[in-house]
Amino acid sequence: MDPMGLRVAFLAAECEPWAKTGGLADVVDALARALGHPDIDGVDGPVDVFLPRYRGVPDLEPSAILGEARLAVPDPRARAGSSAVTIVDVAANGYRLRLVDHPPAFDREGFYGDAAGDYVDNAWRFGLYCRAALEALRADGRPVDVLHLHDWQAGAIAILRKERFDDDPIIGPAALVTTLHNLAYHGWTDNAALPQLGLRPGGAAPGQNADGVDLLAAGIEAAEIVNTVSPTYAREALTPAFGMGLDGLLRRRGDRFIGILNGLDNTVWDPATDRDLAAPFSRDDLAGKATCRADLLGQVGFDPADDGPVIGMIGRLDPQKGFDLLADATPELLAAGGRVIVQGTGHPSLADAFRSLAAASPDRVALVERFDRVLARKIYAGADFFAMPSRFEPCGQGQMIALRYGTPPIVHRTGGLADTVIDETADPGKGTGFVFDRETPSSLVEACRRAFALRASGGAAWKGLVERGMAVDFGWVTGSAPRYVEAYRRAVTIRGEERATR
Ligand code: GLC
Repeated sequence: MDPMGLRVAFLAAECEPWAKTGGLADVVDALARALGHPDIDGVDGPVDVFLPRYRGVPDLEPSAILGEARLAVPDPRARAGSSAVTIVDVAANGYRLRLVDHPPAFDREGFYGDAAGDYVDNAWRFGLYCRAALEALRADGRPVDVLHLHDWQAGAIAILRKERFDDDPIIGPAALVTTLHNLAYHGWTDNAALPQLGLRPGGAAPGQNADGVDLLAAGIEAAEIVNTVSPTYAREALTPAFGMGLDGLLRRRGDRFIGILNGLDNTVWDPATDRDLAAPFSRDDLAGKATCRADLLGQVGFDPADDGPVIGMIGRLDPQKGFDLLADATPELLAAGGRVIVQGTGHPSLADAFRSLAAASPDRVALVERFDRVLARKIYAGADFFAMPSRFEPCGQGQMIALRYGTPPIVHRTGGLADTVIDETADPGKGTGFVFDRETPSSLVEACRRAFALRASGGAAWKGLVERGMAVDFGWVTGSAPRYVEAYRRAVTIRGEERATR
């Protein structure tokens, strides 16, 4: 905390432990906390994190509620011109959570959609969320230096700053930093839906073209600094193969577009203190890891006495994550003595693939088709390897957790996976896991064979691999949070100069 430092507010659609579908939630929580850490200079913490109050947000401890304010928020869809929104301020672990409560928008089954697909009024829902956050900051009356926008759900902030608040004493001077956690989701809003944002076709709002508004593009176009969550993905994003249609726009941002590798919260993820594990362990004392392995195998109905290699994989069941590659590779992995444990929810066809594999070999393949925080920790700790065959991966967190839990990752060389895992075969004695180059089942199988062989050889090479992985420090406070502070400073300078020369 630094009273002379910058005042920072996050706009993020997910934040652990209140709302999570993926890694975004962990990163928002951990980065917000790290920025308020006493060792971080330059931020007047604690940071504000604005989050929609979805139906799934757990009940709040009355003692944690810092205050509630009811605001009349301009709403393009409200007959009266505005809607009542309540901002509930909550003391979180290291930051201030600010829940944006408007039941017609957020008291629904899903965050972004339901079984029928994305909600058709998402532009309105997240537009109102953004507007409410800005009104809350204006009501505070304290200048805010940086609005940190995470993914498309925050993109309306970029539109509002330009279209409504350029001269506003609180919002006008604020610099925008946009973080791209995943280029696959754009918040595309076609012309017919533009009234949801109070916009008309043919305008020149950030992210707008002849057909509508791309809310992710809005955040990219208008922000003083744009970043994504690893250096390799930042380079990949500039190419048509990875840019998801935004590579041209990103190339035009030049050196204002950077990569900052995500960290890992070492206090949240620590096998020595993790109470969900059957036994604690650490790099200096690995004994407990065998207990964790036996516990995990028992939980999923595998024979704990079988010493053959067990591969774990956790995530959204999405083609991005390469679950289909693992499914296709599984028969060969089983033939090589391996077993597979998969946890996740998502695409029914991916779940089906593992369900039939598990039905055929219930003692060798397990599908845990639910989001289970406790079992996830048991998998990180108890599996022998952790697979991440993602087709693209802006950063990825599972591989970092697996390293810390002494479970060597097997990953596709892409994005943040390439930046966080060192291939042991290419660099014997220096590696931390196994990396493969082609997004095919056979390339994955080949990497698994290398991994199985090293483990089977036992001895020092295997022990060294595990220990090097556990020794890697991805801590936010010492690593990536200071990179964000630098980005904030740069963004503030750029915004100040731009306004001074008008
Ligand atoms: C998204 C990306 C993932 C990244 C996470 C947090 O979920 O797919 O790679 O780690 O955001 O930045």
